[in-house]
Amino acid sequence: MTSAREQVILGAAETIRPALGGAVPDVAIVLGSGLGELAERVGNAVRIPYAAIPGFHQPTVAGHKGELVFGTMTGKTVLVQSGRFHMYEGLSADTTALPVRVFATLGIRTVVLTNAAGGIRRTYGPGTIMLIADHLNLTGQNPLVGSALAGEERFPDLNNGYDVGLRRLARRVAVAVGIDLEAGVYAGLLGPSYETPAEIRMLERLGADAVGMSTVIEAIAARARGVRCLGLSTITNPAAGTSAAPPTHAEVMKVAAQTCGRVARLIEAIVAQL
Ligand code: HPA
Repeated sequence: MTSAREQVILGAAETIRPALGGAVPDVAIVLGSGLGELAERVGNAVRIPYAAIPGFHQPTVAGHKGELVFGTMTGKTVLVQSGRFHMYEGLSADTTALPVRVFATLGIRTVVLTNAAGGIRRTYGPGTIMLIADHLNLTGQNPLVGSALAGEERFPDLNNGYDVGLRRLARRVAVAVGIDLEAGVYAGLLGPSYETPAEIRMLERLGADAVGMSTVIEAIAARARGVRCLGLSTITNPAAGTSAAPPTHAEVMKVAAQTCGRVARLIEAIVAQL
């Protein structure tokens, strides 16, 4: 029996499938805040507005558009999610993970998860691109709660949450194209308030290098379906209490937009090698 949750995933996938013209995209790319411009770099773009996809919610956050863009990038086929789902919008972890589950249902085996994040490690200032080596899921939620969905591992192993082979590839490509790429642990919190300085000190002691409000839920759902994840954070601001200036969404958007070209070049170079 197909559960109601599974029906939502299958319904969305069946709506999207005709737009792909029989192709299974080589990779799905989830765009973080301020990185929407990356969707403009997709060739032969076919746009699928969320309004046309049952179960997809209209983004409520500035900087998140609300469409899937299918097309080509450096000789590969890509499906770009322009408009992320966040739990702080009032969505369950289950709904937040819906797009990634739909990508897996469409046969996609690799996802690139991008985000904007606050820098905790002092040397990771605004404009740093950080490869996510691992995460701390501090949202208090998990997309796998509830009955196990068809094709999903009940107790997935997260040792390789951010695929070691893809991380190696990303580092090699970054050197080849001359883009600085740091690496670190991403702490995913619920938000939407930014952290207190005490929380940032705590996260630092827990081993976090960057902090944000996305990604971890999607990575867990992807791994439960055996999909490989590559995570890239754009550090947009010093985390709370680590500099005199408090984080603001305007600053996050501004620095993300400034860094977007570099992130896009890196992603294109990685996608070319997939
Ligand atoms: N904290 C949480 N999320 C963020 C931040 C931050 O400082 N910057 C961008 N997203």
